[in-house]
Amino acid sequence: MVKLGVNVDHVATIRQARGTEYPSPVGAALACAEAGAHGITIHLREDRRHIQDKDVGLLKQALDIPLNLEMACSEDVIDLALQTVPEEVCLVPERRQERTTEGGLDVVAGGSRLADTIERLASVSICVSLFIEPNPRQIEAAREVGARVIELHTGRFCDAHGQEAADALRELQSGARLAHSAGLRVNAGHGIHLGNMEGILRVPHLETLNIGHSIVARAILVGMRGAVQEMLSACSRYQGGDVS
Ligand code: PXP
Repeated sequence: MVKLGVNVDHVATIRQARGTEYPSPVGAALACAEAGAHGITIHLREDRRHIQDKDVGLLKQALDIPLNLEMACSEDVIDLALQTVPEEVCLVPERRQERTTEGGLDVVAGGSRLADTIERLASVSICVSLFIEPNPRQIEAAREVGARVIELHTGRFCDAHGQEAADALRELQSGARLAHSAGLRVNAGHGIHLGNMEGILRVPHLETLNIGHSIVARAILVGMRGAVQEMLSACSRYQGGDVS
C-alpha cells in the first residue's frame, strides 16, 4: 500500500502568525504518527516563514518515523541537514514570493550543483529525492545526478478538471513508469486531497504521498468541536469558582 507522509508546515504557520509557542509542529507530528502516518515532512524555507531551524532538530529527536526535510539547495540549509541528519531530504526549487512550491526543480539546468549536494547529503546516509515535473528529460537528469528517489509534482493534475486533468494524469503515469524503469523510487505530492486521491492512485509505482494543506485544513474542521468544548468546560469550571 502507498505510504503517507504528512507535511506539518501549516501548523508552524499558525504558530508564527502570532509568535506564540503553540501550536507545536512536534505535537502535531506525534499525533500524525499515532494516527498511522508513515513519515513527517517539513519544508525549511529560506525565509523561515513557517518551520524554524530549531523545529528540525526537535522533530528529529521526537519522532520514531522518518523525517523528510524539503529544502532548496542553499548552503545554510544544507549545513543544517548535514548536522541534523533527517532520514530523507527532498530538494525543491524556491522563490521567496511564491505562496507554496510552484513547479518542479530544473534538474537539467541544475546538473553539477545538484549532483554535488546529493553526494554531500548521501555521505551522511540521507536519502535524497528531487521534486520534479513528470517530464522525461527531468527524470533522466535526476538519475544522472545520482538521485535515488523522485517526488513527482502532482499540482497540475490536482488543480485541473476535465481534459486537462486527464492529460496531466497520463503524464504522471508515464513519468512514474519511466522513473521506475530507470531504477528510481517514486513519491508524489502537492495539492492532493480526498477528492483527487482516486485519480492519484491510478499512477503506478508510487511509494509515498506527501500531503500537507488538505490534511491540516481538514484537521481544523474535524478538531473544532473538541476545541470549543474544551474552552466551554474551562469557562464553566472557573466561573464556578473552582480553580484548584
Ligand atoms: N511535496 C512538496 C515537495 C511540497 O513542496 C509540498 C508543499 O510544501 C508538498 C509536497 C505538500 O503539498 P500540499 O501542502 O499541497 O499537500
